[in-house]
Amino acid sequence: KTIDDLGDVAGLRVLVRSDLNVPIKNDVIGDDGRIRASLPTLVKLAKAGAKVIVTAHLGRPKGTPNPEFTLAPVAKRLGELLKDEGITVHFAADVTGEAAQAAVQDLDEGEVLLLENVRYDAREESKDESQRDQLADELTALADVFVSDGFGVVHRKQASVYDVARKLPHAAGGLVLAEVEVLKKLTEDPARPYVVVLGGAKVSDKLAVIDNLLAKADKVLIGGGMVFTFLKAQGHEVGKSLLEEDQLDVVRGYLKEAGDRIVLPTDIVVAPEFKADSPATVVAADAIPADQLGLDIGPDSAKAFAAEVAAAKTVFWNGPMGVFEMEAFAGGTKAVAQALTEVTGLSVVGGGDSAAAVRQLGFADDAFGHISTGGGASLEYLEGKELPGLAVLEED
Ligand code: 3PG
Repeated sequence: KTIDDLGDVAGLRVLVRSDLNVPIKNDVIGDDGRIRASLPTLVKLAKAGAKVIVTAHLGRPKGTPNPEFTLAPVAKRLGELLKDEGITVHFAADVTGEAAQAAVQDLDEGEVLLLENVRYDAREESKDESQRDQLADELTALADVFVSDGFGVVHRKQASVYDVARKLPHAAGGLVLAEVEVLKKLTEDPARPYVVVLGGAKVSDKLAVIDNLLAKADKVLIGGGMVFTFLKAQGHEVGKSLLEEDQLDVVRGYLKEAGDRIVLPTDIVVAPEFKADSPATVVAADAIPADQLGLDIGPDSAKAFAAEVAAAKTVFWNGPMGVFEMEAFAGGTKAVAQALTEVTGLSVVGGGDSAAAVRQLGFADDAFGHISTGGGASLEYLEGKELPGLAVLEED
């Protein structure tokens, strides 16, 4: 069901689960992409005259209130962004307590209220269904209908994502629908060649998705920290680079199964230390010195990866190619991002880190086919797993 299927929402209290989990340091928001991506649904509901109540999380405060994880700066940013639309944003200092209840009472039609970090309440993430159920009841008491729009959390079986949807008339918000539509295109009959670029620190985080993508993609290009486990599995020394010894056998299996469909870098940018000003040199991927660590794919590899990407009709990219936050090790990530902007078919950037990388490197969002707001959620979707937050929306 979509928001339109809910009928006239004027005057109704609409509880929206958004994913507003953005990087914040000293009260300053880094990349506000997720806040921006949540706006269309909130604007649509507010303009239709709903009283919009937003529940969301920030970080992992583990069930205890902690000022480090307050959503107050997010409420402020939301207020700035919605001001142009003439929409007022309020903030409640608790999740479902007195402050939240009073704020809902005072909320006018066409206004937005953001509730405090739902993960301040230990019941949100509880494995005990009856605990989650209690919190879901409290959230449900604040609202008449529920809209699920936090795509980044649909892989979590949590009270504000899953249990609430079982208790209220519900619909998928525009962001969830848009994300699912794109991911469907990747899994069902992608236009070929279909090229996947995978980076990030750990192979172990991505085993299931690699399995699945190896079965679907024409080429899987590997960069980032995980590449050193692949190089080692091929028999090369990797110096002080990141290495997951316990994954070597699994990776050997991938290399055997996929043959030349797995593309590894041929050169690597190395430095003696993990530091922005550590002197960087380029070495062959099979000749990483013992006292150095790899921090980016090298320029020849960046060119080769870019050529594979540019020739593709469908591309999915997850995970930076190197330590892009440091100028000397940003070349690989920049080259891949640039190549993605040149794809004539569908280009998808998935995952919080990759989305932050492209924005930090100065690329505009609309240069890509789609930037997913979901990290874990988009990977789990591509693994072919059932996502609880989506499955529950299919129920009556
Ligand atoms: C994310 O950052 O991917 C989502 O907000 C989910 O956060 P989580 O991994 O802490 O559940």
